[in-house]
Amino acid sequence: MRVNIKKLLIIGIGLVLIWFIVSYSSVIELSKSIPNDHNLLEIENRIEHLEKRIEGRLSESNSLLEKVKKHLKRTEENYHGDAKDSGYDRNFMPNTANVVLPVLLIACDRVTVRRCLDNLVKFRPDKNTFPIIVSQDCGHNATYQVIKSFTDTDPSITVVQQPDTSEIPLPRAKVKFRGYYKIARHYKFALNHVFNTLGHEAVIIVEDDLDISQDFFEYFRGTYSLLLKDSSLWCISAWNDNGKKEVIDMSRPELLHRTDFFPGLGWTLRRDTWLELEPRWPEAFFDDWLRNPENTHGRACIRPEISRTFTFGKIGVSKGLFYDMHLRAMQLNVDYVEFTKMNLTYLLKENYDESLTSTVYALPEWTADEVVSLPVGGDPPAVRVSYSNAKTYQKAAKKLGLMDDFRSGVPRTAYRGVVSCFVRGRRVWVAPRDPWRGYDPSWG
Ligand code: UD1
Ligand code: MN
Repeated sequence: MRVNIKKLLIIGIGLVLIWFIVSYSSVIELSKSIPNDHNLLEIENRIEHLEKRIEGRLSESNSLLEKVKKHLKRTEENYHGDAKDSGYDRNFMPNTANVVLPVLLIACDRVTVRRCLDNLVKFRPDKNTFPIIVSQDCGHNATYQVIKSFTDTDPSITVVQQPDTSEIPLPRAKVKFRGYYKIARHYKFALNHVFNTLGHEAVIIVEDDLDISQDFFEYFRGTYSLLLKDSSLWCISAWNDNGKKEVIDMSRPELLHRTDFFPGLGWTLRRDTWLELEPRWPEAFFDDWLRNPENTHGRACIRPEISRTFTFGKIGVSKGLFYDMHLRAMQLNVDYVEFTKMNLTYLLKENYDESLTSTVYALPEWTADEVVSLPVGGDPPAVRVSYSNAKTYQKAAKKLGLMDDFRSGVPRTAYRGVVSCFVRGRRVWVAPRDPWRGYDPSWG
């Protein structure tokens, strides 16, 4: 017992000694680090000053964070077209509940028109809203029989023959483009039939080698109000020219864009616009003609992030090479989006243009090389890739996996010079370095 007390005493004294040394050494340290002419009061003052500065910085970064959050929320609302919390008044957009939107199917000599008709019938929500008018060129009997098998059993499907199947006289150099002359002639007849003979107000145009998504009709019915409301639009298209899965956001089937580049391949046209185009309608290459801003008075089209059509026509008027290089890989949308229930006012020019510029030019600038080499996804969720001439545009487009061609100086899918795509998990805006001043027809 006595030994234990002794031991405890020694341990206790040891501990006190250690405590004493430790405390003393910290005092020595402190006194070393403080210059001699500083007293405690000064230290307190400095600490207080530091505290204030930290507080200031904190509130600064908090308000910045709030601003970023607000901006993000606004952009999200715009993109989602969310009607619930943005105070959207449905009466603001024209009522299209009773509209009739016929489908004009352009056919010639391919019996596979059956595949297209099968899908139109399968996904058509109602016959009264979407009567189907097949216009057949080429006088090909086997194809006519296929079409007839549909019209015989369903009065909402009708067929008309293009009456003038004569050869179009062409100079030797243009003979190889004969097909394009026939297509333009057929379109002119078919559209006059729909608007003048049948007196429709608008039409959805499809070609005989197109598959459609299940929400194809819902897409055109939902977006039709935009065409009525916004005089700076002349068409709605189901097609994204940069619609490969590597360059689109597969999680955003509801996302739509404006474009200055006529996409074709499933599109809506209004009677007023046809009456304006018809007297000037070209003899050939009507689609490229519609891509010249002069012919459409600089108006734009709506296009989806994910295409609502897919072309299976490898063999046709143009060469199959383009099909194998691009068209085969295009993604057809698989989700059903209820466009008729969505607020699409973010696509109106008065909302879209301002929001586009402020969004795009506030983003960090990356090179196309960085986009394809830095880690997938994460921060930042969106970047801007700049270009300053046709060459730098094409270089960036190639690197990102986009189409790099121009028509009348307009890059595919461009809107006011800006091309939007989605690469390796982030939104990428390919945008002019200097403020956009219109397209340059010498590009391309
Ligand atoms: C390409 C375009 C097509 C456009 C055409 C006109 C793609 C994938 N396709 O045609 O959208 O309309 O250029 O510049 O970009 N047809 C006739 N008469 C004819 C030959 C064809 O009416 O003598 C019809 C076909 O039935 C079809 C359409 O014209 O509906 C296009 O013909 P197609 O053979 O598919 O040509 P593409 O090379 O795809
Ligand atoms: Mn085709």
